[in-house]
Amino acid sequence: EAAVKGGFDTFMEKEIHDQPKAVADTLLGRHDDDGNLVLDELRVDESVLRTVDKIIVVACGTAAYAGHVAKYAIEHWCRIPVEVELAHEFRYRDPVVDVRTLVVAISQSGETMDTIMAIRHAREQGAKVLAIVNTHGSTIARESDAVLYTHAGPEVAVASTKAFLSQITACYLLGLYLSQLRGYKYVDEVADYLEELGKLPDKIQQLLDAEDEVKSVATAMKDTASVLFLGRHVGYPVALEGALKLKELAYIHAEGFAAGELKHGPIALIEPGQAVFVIVPTPRRPMLHNKVVSNIQEVRARGARTLVIAEEGDETVDEFAEVVFRVPKTPTLMMPLVTVVPLQIFAAALAAAKGLDVDQPRNLAKSVTVE
Ligand code: G6P
Repeated sequence: EAAVKGGFDTFMEKEIHDQPKAVADTLLGRHDDDGNLVLDELRVDESVLRTVDKIIVVACGTAAYAGHVAKYAIEHWCRIPVEVELAHEFRYRDPVVDVRTLVVAISQSGETMDTIMAIRHAREQGAKVLAIVNTHGSTIARESDAVLYTHAGPEVAVASTKAFLSQITACYLLGLYLSQLRGYKYVDEVADYLEELGKLPDKIQQLLDAEDEVKSVATAMKDTASVLFLGRHVGYPVALEGALKLKELAYIHAEGFAAGELKHGPIALIEPGQAVFVIVPTPRRPMLHNKVVSNIQEVRARGARTLVIAEEGDETVDEFAEVVFRVPKTPTLMMPLVTVVPLQIFAAALAAAKGLDVDQPRNLAKSVTVE
């Protein structure tokens, strides 16, 4: 068994360490030498993709957070409105879907019943369904009009890690492809973005090489009862995912918030000793950055323990942070691929320190095949 875990104690650790390869493999072979994206495998008529006027992402759990990231990227690159809906809510609210709607279903297993029912509903309404799926030949892959496979390889641990990173990567590819196809104003930048994406596997590896620092902080926090996560813009879905990982693995009450929402309620939860993770945007986006740094100050002033994820060289956070985990410089929209990694390591290490089963948390299933 040690061999299949690649020398790691758990599948989850192995899969966290598989992430540079999962992202690289998902990018592999999907563009030509001139930096044009080639997604021939999509098999949906290009004219359909040119006329789509709305995208709805349907997914559950971690895959839905990949969809949240997709919204920021696709709307910016393509100016197509993107909604993200939990698959189990979609069908019951009589969603506005028609032949010009592209429904994007994201799923690691391709067998999540809630997501299957959502795509069946979408197709009945005339929408085209594009699946971003990890498992070849799965039900969602078979029932969709087009499939963009993530190449993360088999994921065994119940809590999703490498599938998440490869789903986000596939969403970027889709956004850039639609931008290229529809000739929107970022079309000239597709090659640059692809080049940046190509650098991500090495950046993720750098984070893995520094994992001991995250692990020792996590181990020291094993008796913590509650952790909050704050993020803004693409840091918001990362905050949600960080909280989900901690709930799933360590059975700790954890909640993610949009940082701007802090003053509208969650700040009432802050008391001395409350642990708060803050995912800080790059200082190259000062409007976003300054606001999140103020949030760190606000919770720190009320006695919170502040665990900050910030870009290399961003010293503005040091004064208010109990601990800073550094991530390499990355274009804003792509930051989730790096900022989520310390949160995955943190959750797995804290659960291990509590003596819990990291790969098989209680009450959860890898794939939920009932509605
Ligand atoms: C379950 C798993 C999660 C996963 C979700 C969606 O809840 O425990 O880790 O994110 O299902 O699964 P899917 O296979 O559709 O990505």
